[in-house]
Amino acid sequence: MRTELTFAPLATIDTELLAVFAADTQTEKGPGVKPAPALLSADEAVLAAAQSVLATGEFKAAANEIVLLHAPAGLSAKRLLIVGLGKQSKATIHELRKASGAAVRYLKPRGIRELVLAIPSSESLPPAGSIRAALEGAQVGDFDPDTYKSDRKDQSIQTLTIAAPADADQTEARTAYREGVIVGDCQNFARALINEPGNVLTPTELGRRAAAMAADLGLKCEVYSTEKLVELKMGAFLGVAQGSAEPPALIVVRYEPEGVTEGPILGLVGKGITFDSGGISLKPGDGMEKMKYDMAGGASMLAAIRALALLQVPVRAIAVITATENMPDGRAQKPGDVRTAMPMGEDKPGKTIEIINTDAEGRLVLADGLVYARSLGATHLIDAATLTGACMVALGMVNAGLFSNDDETCAKFQRALEVSGEKFWRLPLGDEYMDMIKSDIGDIKNTGGRYGGASTAAEFLHVFAEDTPWIHLDIAGVAWVETAQPWIAKGPAGITVRSIIEWARQF
Ligand code: BES
Ligand code: MN
Ligand code: ZN
Repeated sequence: MRTELTFAPLATIDTELLAVFAADTQTEKGPGVKPAPALLSADEAVLAAAQSVLATGEFKAAANEIVLLHAPAGLSAKRLLIVGLGKQSKATIHELRKASGAAVRYLKPRGIRELVLAIPSSESLPPAGSIRAALEGAQVGDFDPDTYKSDRKDQSIQTLTIAAPADADQTEARTAYREGVIVGDCQNFARALINEPGNVLTPTELGRRAAAMAADLGLKCEVYSTEKLVELKMGAFLGVAQGSAEPPALIVVRYEPEGVTEGPILGLVGKGITFDSGGISLKPGDGMEKMKYDMAGGASMLAAIRALALLQVPVRAIAVITATENMPDGRAQKPGDVRTAMPMGEDKPGKTIEIINTDAEGRLVLADGLVYARSLGATHLIDAATLTGACMVALGMVNAGLFSNDDETCAKFQRALEVSGEKFWRLPLGDEYMDMIKSDIGDIKNTGGRYGGASTAAEFLHVFAEDTPWIHLDIAGVAWVETAQPWIAKGPAGITVRSIIEWARQF
């Protein structure tokens, strides 16, 4: 998708399709009260062209509702698309992001390859935020997961033009435009990785893709395998990896912006299980194919550090992705095994972990990932992982789980959500959860029984983050879109990328 920005009057833009947004301005409720759709555009020619269809009442401006007009009178555009944002009082940039995606997804199967998005401007839709959100949404909408269809028809949009609102500050609009292009593209970068099948995206291949991405941007990247893990004494990570014929990959990408030599170093730690069969504690066959997306957290961290570099955010960051398959094998680790995680410092031995269930592998690879990120100098940690079915039970496929040992760092993340529009809900840590994972034979065990599974998993990770300000994102329920929505295809969601970027920008 090629993108452009224009400040030209809407009526003069010669294009296959001009898309404008509308909201329902009706505030009354009750029987017989009709929706009052109104265009969010001050352009006289556009208002005139849309007037007759709005007057019919057949278009209500409900969220993501769409009406298409051909040969609109008085406009240079061949078609006029009107996209609803729902009730005006709720028409925020988050509705605009989705509606932009819905517009793109409406066009794709209809063979329309070019569009202009007329960005609205109102109190609840400030120009810069709207430009960014529309670009993010349009790019997200353009993604389809059908990479491997032999008769694949590429329906991608060729040119997306953003028409800035007339009252927008041009400098601000250009900045927002550049940011929106980068953020949307990075979210799709993560989605493309998550979508890859396990036989293609092995840990080694994930390492190659990370190295290629880093080389493109001039970032330092190291990809290590078994020998280095042994040297680092990453017993928890190695325990998971030993059941697979594929070698593990410890992927480290460093973003060191020029001139930034002090201040925080953000450790972005991602779970990179390229396929989770459960190991000896084998998962049931039904739906097991989904477990190719168990590297979604790792992909998000690669996408996030890519975005930080492209946006030239002035804060140092290190991405650490612990990539391996989790497989059953004659050499695989077994329930009852005891593993020693990476030492926590020179005179601080690694924690010993009793493996109760080999399917609780994410926390094992993350334990070593967190300790390693700290050893590389990370002052603040954020991890993302498709970690627990329990989190999915608690929050459904609506919110992802958010855990933190530091209210200030957590507040930064919650502020980021106001920009990103991603949904996370804070869940508790606590000593009581810690008590549930005490082991009789060693320090801790890798599961804590049936109840409170998201919190015991988080408390397990807390052991390795210790007092370093840390955020844990459990994205098991939201990393994969199970049902196609008007604005996004069924498949990888790419969630956390936008929020991590916005979190990092606050340092
Ligand atoms: N990768 C899974 C969690 C998961 C479940 C992700 C569903 C996406 C969708 C994780 O490794 C896992 O298997 N967790 C177990 C932990 C349990 C054994 C304590 C779970 O949640 O069942
Ligand atoms: Mn598992
Ligand atoms: Zn897993």
